[in-house]
Amino acid sequence: MKLTWSHVTPKAIYMDRRKFMAAGAVALAAPALMGRPALALSGKPSQYSTDQAPNTLEEITSYNNFYEFGTGKEDPKRNSGALTTADWSVQVDGMVDRPGSYGVEDIAPDNALEERIYRLRCVEAWSMVVPWLGVPMASVLNKVGVQPGAKYVAFETLVRPEEMPGQQRAILDWPYREGLRLDEAMNPLTILATGLYSEVLPNQNGAPIRLVVPWKYGFKSIKSIVRITLTDTQPLNTWKQLQSSEYGFYANVNPNVDHPRWSQATERRVGAGLFAGREETLMFNGYGDQVAQMYAGMDLSENY
Ligand code: MTE
Repeated sequence: MKLTWSHVTPKAIYMDRRKFMAAGAVALAAPALMGRPALALSGKPSQYSTDQAPNTLEEITSYNNFYEFGTGKEDPKRNSGALTTADWSVQVDGMVDRPGSYGVEDIAPDNALEERIYRLRCVEAWSMVVPWLGVPMASVLNKVGVQPGAKYVAFETLVRPEEMPGQQRAILDWPYREGLRLDEAMNPLTILATGLYSEVLPNQNGAPIRLVVPWKYGFKSIKSIVRITLTDTQPLNTWKQLQSSEYGFYANVNPNVDHPRWSQATERRVGAGLFAGREETLMFNGYGDQVAQMYAGMDLSENY
């Protein structure tokens, strides 16, 4: 991997720079002086970002779940180097006015990127804070035109066993699939990410384009998307299909509903160090103000 600005910038400076940019001093930040490559991405600061300190680029890109490249946490980094992401296209179909094959730059133009610093809580009870660069999913849906009657959005990951060695075995029923209710997809927190820190999204994090839904367990945030379908029926999702007693469609982060095999009340922050205690897991991963109303009246232990 090439060495860039975010590798060499201590977290504190990165955070200061964010405040600086939030204050409108973009032109004064002079990233070029810090060795930032011309191709580096940037995004507008967002009111939805947490002020918690992000994990390092090294942590975010070295400890991953991406079963297409193997089931070990270090497998995605080790095995994803051969994935070709140039000339990627995403098929948008189903109940949309403008179906078709869209390039990544059509869906998420670099000049429209926002920085969204979000907590990520995996169903396995570890967590991180990731500074994503992406566009609101709502902006994409508005571009393609959602037809009346559409109720859900379905997503699929690339199938390419020659470049995705995990797909040479039936670990999961490929392609990896996910889905959201339309109102969840339209929620301002839901983004399609194409970068993190100032980097183009690394392969192991779901290059070139992946979903990020911060109030749901990480498995909803499907990587390397090649198809988006608007539909009136609740779509299949891979983990529910594999083991529906353990993984549901909603997968909202919920400290009160345990996984059948472990507690969801607390989490381990990756990189926090050997002596750091576990943290309390927050309802909706702390995003209740933005999302709780979507589930009013629903039994969240039934709809896990
Ligand atoms: N998307 C695909 N296609 N395949 C996967 O195995 N793993 C999911 C999700 N998206 C997965 C996926 C899980 S379980 C988590 S926790 C997050 O990706 C991890 O994202 P990260 O590796 O960028 O932290």
